[in-house]
Amino acid sequence: MKKTLLALTALALLASTAQARSWDDIKKSGTIRIATEGAFPPFNVLKGKVLTGFEVDLANQLAAQLGLKVQWVTQPFDNLLIGLNQDRYDFVIASHGITPERQKAVDFSSPHYCTGGAIVTKPGGPTTAAALSGKSVAVQVGTTYLENVRKVPGVGDVKTFPKDTDAQAALMAGRVDAWVGDKFTGLDLVKAQKGKVVQGALLFNERIGMAVKKGNTGLLKELNAALTKSLSDGSYAKLSGQYFGTDVRCR
Ligand code: ARG
Repeated sequence: MKKTLLALTALALLASTAQARSWDDIKKSGTIRIATEGAFPPFNVLKGKVLTGFEVDLANQLAAQLGLKVQWVTQPFDNLLIGLNQDRYDFVIASHGITPERQKAVDFSSPHYCTGGAIVTKPGGPTTAAALSGKSVAVQVGTTYLENVRKVPGVGDVKTFPKDTDAQAALMAGRVDAWVGDKFTGLDLVKAQKGKVVQGALLFNERIGMAVKKGNTGLLKELNAALTKSLSDGSYAKLSGQYFGTDVRCR
């Protein structure tokens, strides 16, 4: 009898650790675990031990609204959705474009901003998709930039980097003809480099969402409700204004 009970308890424990935490579990624990990259300004940036950025502030705001403390986890971009499916954290906010391919692996929230992928180059460099023909382009690995740049007819060498900031650095060092990245990140780079680079055409548009483990509908519902509230009560608009001087919500 005792043995069976023990075996059953062990099984139950195994089963529960193999599952994403449900909304009830998270609520009961009082703390939500959120993962991001921390190398994607101005969305998520880790400086020393301090995480900042639009998405970090937004997620903190949503968690506060849900009455939860936050435990942040940082991971290389390419590992984020894998870790999510290994239950290392409850959700991911790291500027993931909502794509059919990713939707096979995870569930996305309503979009928390809308943006696009744009070309940045040195003055005189390629600024349109057509001009990328035969040119080398730097992009971050595992991103929608890579996917979309590959589709550009005749594009030259596409070089991938673990971090977006490394891809930018390759452009600055003259190792590639162009960098393709987020249009807002690009604007910041142009500003910081004071005339050394220019922003070219937008290659594609995308809707960005938070990712939960597939089937974690309870948590998704709460996140979406908190986002809707932030979008309607002015707190989202205020935050977006601080980072971008404009409202980046999807319309
Ligand atoms: N928006 C692009 C994508 O969906 C890039 C995201 C990169 N995010 C990051 N934290 N580095 O792939």
